[in-house]
Amino acid sequence: MLVTLKQILQPAMEQGYAVPACNIDNEHNLRAAIEAAEEMHTGIILNTTPIANPDLVTFGKLAVDLARRARVNIALNLDHGKSFADCLLGIQAGYTSIMIDRSTLPFEENVKEVKEMVRICHALGISVEAELGHVGTGEQYDIDGHQAFTQVEEAKAFVEQTGVDALAVAIGTAHGVYKGKPEIHYDILHALHEALPIPLVLHGGSGTGDENLARCAREGIHKINLSNDLKRSAIQNLIKEDLSGNAVYQLYPLLAEGFKDKIKHYIRLFGCEGK
Ligand code: CO
Ligand code: CO
Repeated sequence: MLVTLKQILQPAMEQGYAVPACNIDNEHNLRAAIEAAEEMHTGIILNTTPIANPDLVTFGKLAVDLARRARVNIALNLDHGKSFADCLLGIQAGYTSIMIDRSTLPFEENVKEVKEMVRICHALGISVEAELGHVGTGEQYDIDGHQAFTQVEEAKAFVEQTGVDALAVAIGTAHGVYKGKPEIHYDILHALHEALPIPLVLHGGSGTGDENLARCAREGIHKINLSNDLKRSAIQNLIKEDLSGNAVYQLYPLLAEGFKDKIKHYIRLFGCEGK
């Protein structure tokens, strides 16, 4: 069933677990992610960045159709809409949630642009996720990993002023592959979780480590974004095969199997199996 981000995160907030948000961009990983969720009897969030598929509107037709036919709840989220046009593309593609990323702008401008997107999306029955503080890249973790954390008072004002449905927070994770060891600031997470009435989102789940992610899922994060780890698992499942034989004809099924296995691992880890 196709649902909004708000609908899928409501029970996660009430019962205290996190839902994996898996980056998908083609028919194979889309189907693999839905199968993983169905086999684990849980809802799931599917993320697509505007640049991940060259024709998001066409891809969106397939994603919407498969999500509607799924036996579990599926929310389709446009990940990191960095411009007004990106966000509208997600709406046009049929996504039920838009993540508007204005985290590099000054606070007031971030508020202004997010508020505008909330007005548009809520009129259409679509959820909105925004980001406050800034989650940087793993390549620059020595710098990005230790600055631009989300401030509690600012976050409270941001949520009140924008009416946003979910908030991506900066507590020490980073996008892509970490250079160095990730350090999660649980004190900031606890303070944000205590202060904010909406679900918190963790970007840069890949490479953060099972122990950290399980703890985040228990202690206040309700959506965890995953991309690199899933792709890596897909590739590893392919290259373990003897590629001089018939395995080459199984290219896409092998990638999908590795992708799916890792999603199931995270569903168990985040406590949402059967939810
Ligand atoms: Co909570
Ligand atoms: Co992100």
